[in-house]
Amino acid sequence: MIFFRLIRPNFISKTRQKLLQKKLGWSNQIGLINMKYKELVIYYFSGTGNAKRTANWIKEEAEKANLNVRIENIVQLKNKVIEKPDKNSLIGFISPTHGFHFPEIMRKFIRLFPKANNCSAFIMNTRAGIRIGSKTLRGISGVLHGWSSMVLHRKGYRITGLFPVDLPSNWISLHPAIGKKGTDIIFRTIEPKVRHFASDMIQGKRNYKGLSISNLITDTLISPISVLYMLFGRYFFAKSFIASSKCDMCGLCERTCPVGAIKRVDNRMFWTHKCESCMKCMNSCPQKAIETAHGFLFITWIITSVIVGFVFNLLANISEIENMHWLQNGNLESLLSWLLVFPILFLGYRITHWLMRFKLFERFFVLTALTHYKFWGRYKSPRKQ
Ligand SMILES: Cc1cc2nc3c(=O)[nH]c(=O)nc-3n(C[C@H](O)[C@H](O)[C@H](O)COP(=O)(O)O)c2cc1C
Repeated sequence: MIFFRLIRPNFISKTRQKLLQKKLGWSNQIGLINMKYKELVIYYFSGTGNAKRTANWIKEEAEKANLNVRIENIVQLKNKVIEKPDKNSLIGFISPTHGFHFPEIMRKFIRLFPKANNCSAFIMNTRAGIRIGSKTLRGISGVLHGWSSMVLHRKGYRITGLFPVDLPSNWISLHPAIGKKGTDIIFRTIEPKVRHFASDMIQGKRNYKGLSISNLITDTLISPISVLYMLFGRYFFAKSFIASSKCDMCGLCERTCPVGAIKRVDNRMFWTHKCESCMKCMNSCPQKAIETAHGFLFITWIITSVIVGFVFNLLANISEIENMHWLQNGNLESLLSWLLVFPILFLGYRITHWLMRFKLFERFFVLTALTHYKFWGRYKSPRKQ
C-alpha cells in the first residue's frame, strides 16, 4: 500500500492502471487514480460560501486522487498577474449565478484570463435551490454556460464539464432565508453529485450536465432577462441596502466586500453602484444591521410611475395639438420608465441616506424592510454537514 501512496499516479501508464485495477479490485470511482493532469487549479468567487464549499468538495476529490490542487479566491487575485496555465493542467471556474449569468467580477476574471493551448477547463455555477414542501426546485443558469464556454473556448480551452450546483438560495432580498432543515437536505442531495462530477473531471471524462434538455429550455427562455439584469437589474439591487441604527461601524462589511462597494459617507455605510448584491455583507453582519430597503424601492417605483404618467400625458397632449401621434406609442412609455427609474433611484438613495440620520426616517426605512423581521432570517453556507 505504501508503494501506491508513494508513486506519482499521474505517471502510471493506462495499461498498468487497468492491470492494477483488475488485480486489486480498484474502482475508478472510489480509489480514483488521476493520470491525465499534473495539477488542478480552481478559481472561485463566493458571496455566502456555497461556491467556496463546492470548490472544497472538488479539492477533496482531487486530493484523494493524488492530484496536486490549488484553490484560489479570485477576490484575492485582484491586480495579480495570472500565468498562462500549463497544457497538462485542469482549470475549474466556480461562482454563484447572479441574474442568470456569472456576476461581473467572475465575468471580468474569465474575460481577462490568459489564453491557453488546448488546456482542459470546467465551469460550475452554484444556483438557487429552493425547498417547497418536500420538493427542491432547481435554480436557472440562463446564459452563463453558453457565454463562459464560448469565451474560454476562444481562448484555447477545451471545456470538459459544465455543472450547475443547486445549493440553497442566498438571495434574501427576494425571499426569506431557507431554514436549517431545508438547507441540510439540499446540501446532502447535491454533495455526492458534485463529488461524482469532480471524479469525472479528474479522470479526464466529459460531463455536460449543465446542457441537459430541460436546463437548455429554461436557460434559453430566460436569456433576455439575463441581459436586462446585466444592464439594469444589478444596479437596481445595488441601491437597495441600508444600515440601520444597530450598525456599530465595525467596518467588517467595508473590509470584506469582494468588490469594495461599501464606503462610509457621513458616518454611515453607503453602497455604491459597484455592489454585486452577493449578500456577503448582509448575511455576515454581526449586528444584523444591514437591510434590504423594500420600502425605499417601493417609493422609488411609485415616484417613477407618477413622473412617467405625467410626462406621458404631456406628450399625449402635445401629440394631439401637433398631430404627432407616434408620441403616444406604448413602447415610448416603457423606454421613458427605464430612462427615469435610474436617476430617481440614485438620487433617491442619496436622499434616503441623508434622511437616515433622523430617527423618524431611519425607523420608517427599517420597519418597511422585510429583512428586518425575525422570520426572514439570514443565509450563510453551513460550515459542516
Ligand atoms: C443578486 C443575486 C442573483 C441571483 N440570481 C440567481 C439566478 O439567476 N439563478 C439562480 O439559480 N440563482 C440565483 N441566485 C442564487 C445564488 O446563485 C445561489 O444562492 C448561490 O448558491 C450562492 O452562492 P454563494 O453562497 O457562493 O454566494 C442569485 C443570488 C443573488 C444574491
